[in-house]
Amino acid sequence: MSKSNDPARVASRDWSSSELREALASAAEWVLAYREGVESRPVFPNVEPGEIQARLGAEPPARPDPFDRVLADFSEDIVPGLTHWNHPGFMAYFASCARGPSVAAELLIAAVGVNAMLWRTSPAATEVELVAVDWLRQALGLPADFRGVILDTASTSTFTALLAARERAGDDVRRRGLFDAPALTVYTSEQSHSSIDKAAMAAGLGLASVRRVAVDERFRMRPEALSEGIDADLAAGARPSFVCATVGTTSTASADPVRAIADVVRRHDDLWLHVDAAYAGSAALAPELRDPFDGWELADSIVVNPHKWMGTSLDCSVLFFRDPTPFRASLALTPAYLESEEAPATNLMDFGLSLGRRFRGLKLWTLFRCVGTDALADTFRGHVRMAADAADRLTSSGRFELAAPVSFSTICVRAVGAGEPDELDAGNRDILRRVNEGDSVFLSHTELDGRYTLRLSVGSAHTEPRHVESAVEALIRAADDLARTEAVAVGTE
Ligand SMILES: Cc1ncc(COP(=O)(O)O)c(C=O)c1O
Repeated sequence: MSKSNDPARVASRDWSSSELREALASAAEWVLAYREGVESRPVFPNVEPGEIQARLGAEPPARPDPFDRVLADFSEDIVPGLTHWNHPGFMAYFASCARGPSVAAELLIAAVGVNAMLWRTSPAATEVELVAVDWLRQALGLPADFRGVILDTASTSTFTALLAARERAGDDVRRRGLFDAPALTVYTSEQSHSSIDKAAMAAGLGLASVRRVAVDERFRMRPEALSEGIDADLAAGARPSFVCATVGTTSTASADPVRAIADVVRRHDDLWLHVDAAYAGSAALAPELRDPFDGWELADSIVVNPHKWMGTSLDCSVLFFRDPTPFRASLALTPAYLESEEAPATNLMDFGLSLGRRFRGLKLWTLFRCVGTDALADTFRGHVRMAADAADRLTSSGRFELAAPVSFSTICVRAVGAGEPDELDAGNRDILRRVNEGDSVFLSHTELDGRYTLRLSVGSAHTEPRHVESAVEALIRAADDLARTEAVAVGTE
């Protein structure tokens, strides 16, 4: 073989235009076939841990394979091990589907491959992000003094907000570290997401700093309990620093009373109010769904994940804030080799731990351009209706009761029965197993008041009423089967 035909030598250069064209054409065909056929796949894969790894080969290949072979292996060895988040029957957790425009935008993002760490390392990438975030702000009805950046996840956004709050508390942790800093305390409800605990762990405040505030019977933070907790901590010499209210909690999608919480926060100097609206925030695009957000405009920072309900692909979490100063104070650091002269420009690296920044703004901008706020709002309305209908059908079947009020597009139910709580929990666990084994729907569970609870959340742009209807039928069928075998009543599996 002549040197110029040696595949290894050829592959040490990048693909030629014709190779890339062929690969993109094959990949595009694959994507279309996948998306058209995803509904016929089992939404949850039937694989054992380690099974996919074992198929992939233990050592890196020294010689190149043609892309078509790699694509075939992806299709045959890897895709069967995926949980299909773009399956219309995906109603577990909170959905994260990639709408078409986001898929196309991801290709463009990969193709230009820019790093928007500084304005000058890709001016347009920075400015597209600023515009897309401002469009989102306007669409959600937030005041003009909020600005924001796109981070990877809500966990990172909340962590970043906590670092800013820690810096604003004035102990100069940035310079001195935490060794002699007074104990700061964090308040969030019993129902809020574990990312608040993680943020406290990672920020060096520790889990012991997190106060889980009691909720009411609708799983909403009780503002008076928050107030009492803050007063007790002040009396004990602690320094309350960060309150996180949630609109759209992870288990039940309940909404904390943000305005009343903001009133408590404003009674204290230097207390930071953060709102976690990672899932539900997108729904504020529809004006008639905005009531639960009342007061969020009073927050210091808010997180909304377009990658949850809005339909951008992972990762796209928008962190809004009013005042950039504490964010810069906590994390901006410019070594000589990153100095730039465009003084008024925004350098995205100043607003987070990571230096490198993906061109995430493009997928949010593309989604807005290709779908528009009217159709996005309609999607949310549709999902809320589907969830309400599902709740009605389930409760009127006589087999299920609501375990929490229906909120946004999420419902929590339990099969009713005559047994002891443990037996009923086992029966509900069994119902979930049976439903998920049916392959066409994927639901998840949670625990409420110590009881195993089934959870159905509609959030994918691919989910239509007929898919929710199938999920409802599958639940009722599983509950009927169990009732027939008396499994729910006697708790046997
Ligand atoms: C209310 C809430 N906040 C935060 C998160 C964490 O989201 P992420 O995966 O973007 O970190 C979740 C995840 O579902 C959530 O439900």
